[in-house]
Amino acid sequence: MSLGGAISVREATKVYDPDGAGVLALDHCSMEIGPGEFSVVVGPSGCGKTTLLNAIAGFHELTEGQIFLDGQLLSSPGQPAKPGSDRVVVFQNGALFPWLTILENVAFGPLAQKKLEPPEAHKAAATMLETMGLSFIAHDYPGQLSSGMRRRAEIARAMMCHPKVLLLDEPFRALDALTKTVAHQFLMEVYDRERPTVFFITHDLDEAIFLASRVYVMTTRPATVKKILDVPLPRPRDFRLLASKECQILRAECQQAVRDEALKAFSAGEREM
Ligand SMILES: Nc1ncnc2c1ncn2[C@@H]1O[C@H](COP(=O)(O)OP(=O)(O)OP(=O)(O)O)[C@@H](O)[C@H]1O
Ligand SMILES: [Mg+2]
Repeated sequence: MSLGGAISVREATKVYDPDGAGVLALDHCSMEIGPGEFSVVVGPSGCGKTTLLNAIAGFHELTEGQIFLDGQLLSSPGQPAKPGSDRVVVFQNGALFPWLTILENVAFGPLAQKKLEPPEAHKAAATMLETMGLSFIAHDYPGQLSSGMRRRAEIARAMMCHPKVLLLDEPFRALDALTKTVAHQFLMEVYDRERPTVFFITHDLDEAIFLASRVYVMTTRPATVKKILDVPLPRPRDFRLLASKECQILRAECQQAVRDEALKAFSAGEREM
């Protein structure tokens, strides 16, 4: 069941510091993300991926263009940026409250929004932790967890408000390869259950192909969409899929597109991917 969550990015342009350095991060970037789509965004470092995510999240205003969510205008020049509970962001460096247990952290959103009373919120949080394979650390504090568990707890917390859109900026970047496959499995489980629209940024192409319904390869800065790759693999997915011929062909195609752009960025003096 999809919650809606169609994102329409139309000619989005973002210039940072327009009166000073004038950094053009997005240049007439357009993207149509379907409701419940698992979109994965890859591209050279510094091309503008986080800038686009922040614009969808409502953290900053566009210089030109518009972003719509289910036909409602989210962002356009002159319109103050508006975060909302329909879009939840999971950050690279995490944001759990260190003074609350994991269960209390996960229950925090619906309690703060007065959507649930404490007993219901704690029951829902316990169920969500079970889905993410974290029941055994429900009463631990964030400081006692490994980084893989912390990332999973953050996703559990984000999903407690049943957002239409889940925005993730390289959430598993710091995890080792084995821990990452575990985190993927739990993320897929919660995605298959709730079907939010996902906007997931990564530099890891195996991760991109494994998770995505569609991969958007961005150009070097200023970002626009260079290539869209559909990933028509059935769900639920198993990590052994990555060894299949179909996945390897998709990965090679993705790698070629990213590499071409990374080389352009590199020769233009930006950092490599
Ligand atoms: N607040 C800001 N003020 C000025 N320039 C910024 C700001 N935020 C980002 N930029 C610049 O905008 C460009 C795009 O940055 P962004 O963080 O969106 O890239 P990215 O694709 O997410 O990179 P990475 O893969 O390294 O995370 C970069 O040149 C960056 O230096
Ligand atoms: Mg970024």
